[in-house]
Amino acid sequence: MKILFIGDVVGMRSCEALKKALRGAKQKLGAEIVIVNGENSAEGNGINPASADAIFEAGADVITTGNHCFRQKTMEAEWERSSTIIRPANYGDDVIGKGVCVLDRGAYSIAVINLMGTTFMQPLENPFHCVDRILESCDARIKIVDFHAEATSEKRAMGYYLAGRVSAVLGTHTHVQTADEQIIEGTGYITDAGMTGPKESILGVEKDIIIDRFLTYYPKRHRFAEGETEMNGVLLDIDTKTGRCTSIERYRQLIV
Ligand SMILES: [Fe+2]
Ligand SMILES: [Fe+2]
Repeated sequence: MKILFIGDVVGMRSCEALKKALRGAKQKLGAEIVIVNGENSAEGNGINPASADAIFEAGADVITTGNHCFRQKTMEAEWERSSTIIRPANYGDDVIGKGVCVLDRGAYSIAVINLMGTTFMQPLENPFHCVDRILESCDARIKIVDFHAEATSEKRAMGYYLAGRVSAVLGTHTHVQTADEQIIEGTGYITDAGMTGPKESILGVEKDIIIDRFLTYYPKRHRFAEGETEMNGVLLDIDTKTGRCTSIERYRQLIV
C-alpha cells in the first residue's frame, strides 16, 4: 500500500498550488493515503480553518503539524472537533487536540503519530518516552511517525530508536529535503521530507528579509515568498500484512 507524505506547506499560495497538483500526483504514484504537514499553511504562519480546509480539499487524508500548531486562535474549535488534524503528541493530554490519528481501512488500520523534537525547540515531554507510551497501546498494523524536529541527530536517533517498531519515521520542520532516505529494519526513514513552498525563498520566506536579518540582526516581519512552488515529500510502499516499509522514495514536483 502506497502512502504519499508531503512536507510543511508554507502559506495559502502553497495550499492553492497543492490543490492544483496533489490529486494528480496521488493518482500518478498510486498512493492510497496522503499525509500532509500543515504547520505553516496559514498566512502569518501556523494553521487555520481555511488552510486546513484547502489541504483536505487538495486530497489529504490526515494533516500533521509542529511547533507552530497553536499560532492561530481560530483553530481552537477544529482542534476540539477534528480527528484527522493532529498536533505533536508530546504536548500532553492537558492541551487541546490529539497527537495520534487512526484511519480504519477494514482489513488493517493506519496510525499517524505526530511528535516534536526537544533539542533547540520547546521543552515538551521527551518524545522518545512519549512514543514508547503511545506504541504500548497502539494496535494499528501500519504506523507512520511525523517527527517534527530541528536537530538532525535527534531525528536520526528517533529513526534508529523506532526501527522495526513502526512503518516509517519521517522528519519535518527544517523545510529542506535530505537525501538520506533508507529502510532500517523495515522502517522507512528520512531526516527531512522537505517543504511545499516557494522555490526561490529561504525555507519559504522572502530571501531578502532573511539575508537582511543575518546582516543586521534586526528582526523583521516574515513574508512568504512568491513564484514557483516546489512540492516535496516521500512515497512509501508498506506491506499491509506486516506493516513493514518495502520502499521509500523522495518526491519533488514543481508547480508553476
Ligand atoms: Fe515548518
Ligand atoms: Fe516547524
